[in-house]
Amino acid sequence: MKSLSFLAVGLFSGALAATVSQDATCGGTNKYTCLGSQFGNCCSSAGWCGSTTAYCGTGCQSGFGNCGSNNGPSSTVASSTKAPSSTKASSATPAPSASGSATQCLSDKKVPYKVSADAAYAQLAEPYNLRLPYKPAVIVLPTTNQHVQDAVVCGGKAGLKIQAKSGGHSYASFSSGGKDGSMVIDLEPFQTVALDKTSGVVQVGGGVRLGNLADGIYTQGKRALSHGTCPGVGVGGHATHGGYSHTSRSWGLAMDAITAADVVLANGTLVKASSSQNSEIYWGIRGAAESLGVITTFYMQTRAAPESVTYFAIPWTGIFNSKATFTNSFLRLQEIARNSSIIDDRISFGVYVDNYGTFSLSGAFFGSVSEFNSKIKGEFLRNMPTSGEVTVKPYSWYDYLILVAGKDSIKEPLTGYSEHDTFFAKSLTVPEKDGLSSAALDAFYTYSQTASSKSVEFYSIINLYGGPGSTINKKDTNFAAYADRDSLWVFQNYGQGANTVSFMNGLQDAVIKAQPQTQFGAYLNYVDPSYDAATAHKLYYGDALYARLLALKKAVDPKNVFWNPQSIGA
Ligand SMILES: Cc1cc2nc3c(=O)[nH]c(=O)nc-3n(C[C@H](O)[C@H](O)[C@H](O)COP(=O)(O)OP(=O)(O)OC[C@H]3O[C@@H](n4cnc5c(N)ncnc54)[C@H](O)[C@@H]3O)c2cc1C
Ligand SMILES: *[C@@H]1O[C@H](CO)[C@@H](O)[C@H](O)[C@H]1NC(C)=O
Ligand SMILES: *[C@@H]1O[C@H](CO)[C@@H](O)[C@H](O)[C@H]1NC(C)=O
Repeated sequence: MKSLSFLAVGLFSGALAATVSQDATCGGTNKYTCLGSQFGNCCSSAGWCGSTTAYCGTGCQSGFGNCGSNNGPSSTVASSTKAPSSTKASSATPAPSASGSATQCLSDKKVPYKVSADAAYAQLAEPYNLRLPYKPAVIVLPTTNQHVQDAVVCGGKAGLKIQAKSGGHSYASFSSGGKDGSMVIDLEPFQTVALDKTSGVVQVGGGVRLGNLADGIYTQGKRALSHGTCPGVGVGGHATHGGYSHTSRSWGLAMDAITAADVVLANGTLVKASSSQNSEIYWGIRGAAESLGVITTFYMQTRAAPESVTYFAIPWTGIFNSKATFTNSFLRLQEIARNSSIIDDRISFGVYVDNYGTFSLSGAFFGSVSEFNSKIKGEFLRNMPTSGEVTVKPYSWYDYLILVAGKDSIKEPLTGYSEHDTFFAKSLTVPEKDGLSSAALDAFYTYSQTASSKSVEFYSIINLYGGPGSTINKKDTNFAAYADRDSLWVFQNYGQGANTVSFMNGLQDAVIKAQPQTQFGAYLNYVDPSYDAATAHKLYYGDALYARLLALKKAVDPKNVFWNPQSIGA
């Protein structure tokens, strides 16, 4: 959300005997080269390896790989070294004929699509995270359910891997396939937001962005849903992998509001999935939709928008002045987070920290300003360092959405979305029973102090998920294929800069190692491309849940058509 301006990282040094990048970074202090790396042979101006013009074109660092084109040597370094031009064409990438037969099949069935030769392709192929710009073999733009059904059959027959795309905000660009050469079914034309005023159930097209969803249900009937703050995020990825925000401890996750979905399965069948129809598929898509099918329409139970929300924000200064101050301050917040005489389900909040020494808390309270001030505010200020100016302010529901979006409007364009970032992010979920130890907080502090020496800019948002009364944690894995129901805190660790991947991994490792007795997990919506499939499955689902998902996967998608590097069965 918060855009970080980028520190200029060291100029290219021309080092010849460089180490081949293992983490997609190049140049910078580590001076890794992209030449021969699995990520592509070119080193971008921002210090990432890749194979497209974003990496090989303007600003490309010739000291750390090829420039001009992925295989076209334009520097002495490249021409004197044999570029392994076949690295990208792994065995998982289908032969060109596969995309040819898929497009022939799509044309025969009159399904709209774009390939790289089309003018519209470049913009459609661009993911939110420009660090991972994969090249789909074909981008399908269906306007009907039948188009989606036909596309799935065409892709499957041609041997292409398929991923649906909703808002395109996957941290790992899985909605671009998670590798080159996939079929992307872009649900951008599915923009319906239709509220049934009697039941309060809204019908939501698979490509609707959260801002347009919130705007639509409020405008049509003063209704609301629990979901993330960023209006550009899509319902398709967000609601099927959790969906957290300031309302979640009261209302639950975005996922929890899904009452039914229209799903196209691998054999091209369209089914309705709910607790009474295709209930195992209904269970599975709430946690692993990308592995089971394409959801063309969601049905979600809205609730009455509250008249007013109390927003609060507390900035502290000097918390990063010493390790003891940092650790004791967080431990005090954790004490509050677990104390049922202070906290109930009406409050949600998160702590924001960054490499500039920011340490602030913000959240929402479904109660009055006076109740917040008399019962809760004093607790946040007691036994803490002196704070800056505290904000406690009532907002109408709609104005609250605009406030936390950090923009002038929550409405997003229906085509031509153009917001992007270049980053690496990951997450850490902290089990309720353990919480964070002082050793883990000490380790976080000590490691975070090394950011500037590694030219990394990062922030962490540490959200309260659990604690007394949390609606999120009242459910379990029988409700949905979602394991993250017992966390106290969820960290989102988000970084930018040449050494980001190793830095962010190091930050989390430091915390995990300092608290060895705890089984930490990870949050599916902050999907982390640095994990191999087995690790991802363990962290996101755990063994029992994964086994049930794998059995379902084998039944409904035996040929493994719906695939990304971490999908079920990958
Ligand atoms: C700027 C920003 C802010 C964010 N803020 C929050 C926040 O406040 N709270 C929070 O919880 N998360 C937040 N996130 C994380 C966000 O929830 C996830 O990135 C989410 O998965 C993105 O959804 P999408 O539809 O945009 O993603 P996409 O990239 O389109 O899809 C993600 C995955 O879901 C699959 N998928 C998408 N649609 C469908 C469908 N219809 N059927 C089957 N599979 C589908 C895709 O194949 C892909 O594997 C934020 C992310 C960003 C980039
Ligand atoms: C919870 O907070 C209340 C109010 O500050 C305090 O009196 C009580 O001792 C706290 N309980 C625990 C277990 O810390
Ligand atoms: C398609 O797959 C589903 C799920 O496995 C199955 O129930 C259905 O019978 C299949 N349809 C056809 C036409 O094969």
